[in-house]
Amino acid sequence: MFNFRLGRKAEAEGTLVVPKHIGIIMDGNGRWAKKRMQPRIMGHKAGMEALHKVTKVASDMGVQVLTVYAFSTENWSRPETEVKFIMNLPVDFYEKYVPELHQHNVKIQMIGETDRLPAGTLDALKKAESLTELNTGLILNFALNYGGRAEIVQAIRAIAQDVLEAKYAPSDVDDALVSDYLQTRTLPSSLRDPDLIIRTSGELRLSNFLPWQAAYSELYFTDVLWPDFDEVAFQAAIEAYSKRQRRFGGI
Ligand code: FPP
Repeated sequence: MFNFRLGRKAEAEGTLVVPKHIGIIMDGNGRWAKKRMQPRIMGHKAGMEALHKVTKVASDMGVQVLTVYAFSTENWSRPETEVKFIMNLPVDFYEKYVPELHQHNVKIQMIGETDRLPAGTLDALKKAESLTELNTGLILNFALNYGGRAEIVQAIRAIAQDVLEAKYAPSDVDDALVSDYLQTRTLPSSLRDPDLIIRTSGELRLSNFLPWQAAYSELYFTDVLWPDFDEVAFQAAIEAYSKRQRRFGGI
């Protein structure tokens, strides 16, 4: 259960606001490994372990969706051995952690282009999705081979096609309709947009992560490298979020 001393105090005082949907750009795995004179892939392995821990903490806290940027459409340009290693992580994750997350009522989903994923990667994700399909707890949403602009382009094409087929008029196209064509449409409609986006390792960019959905997200940047991102770092992000005033363009 949610058992951080400070968190409990803040929660009891009503000062801790838990975001419903958190997006995480898990950055800094390579630098974490370099600091330890290890190959970059060791950073990704440690990054997977950090993800497992953060998922449990987020679930205990009552977060409803965790969308994690595991591989972008631009990451294919990395050395082949590194790409292969990252692509095998879902297989490892499925074997090592999914059974336990399933016990925690975690539901696994994914966004991104599945066509280019190796068969084993896709198979592990599909098995995780079907095993956890009926779970009602935290949704762990993997963004794998995901690119935000490509997602928007694909939505525009599908909308244009449906307008051509006279399913609706151009004037019917609004925020809600666009949201129904994005890959996040598989999430409950009130939970599609992240309340908070966390990026680790000191980089101050969104890097094509959920550009539509992030329109009103609070952004939190930390110098902590992703494999070091633990309960305390997570707690710090939630506390920072709790102090923000979200106005959505109002006053
Ligand atoms: C960015 O760090 C990280 C990635 C591209 C991979 C992230 C993947 C994980 C954390 C594991 C996810 C787990 C599963 C099950 C898919 P970087 O390599 O760009 O770090 P650097 O900027 O320090 O080089």
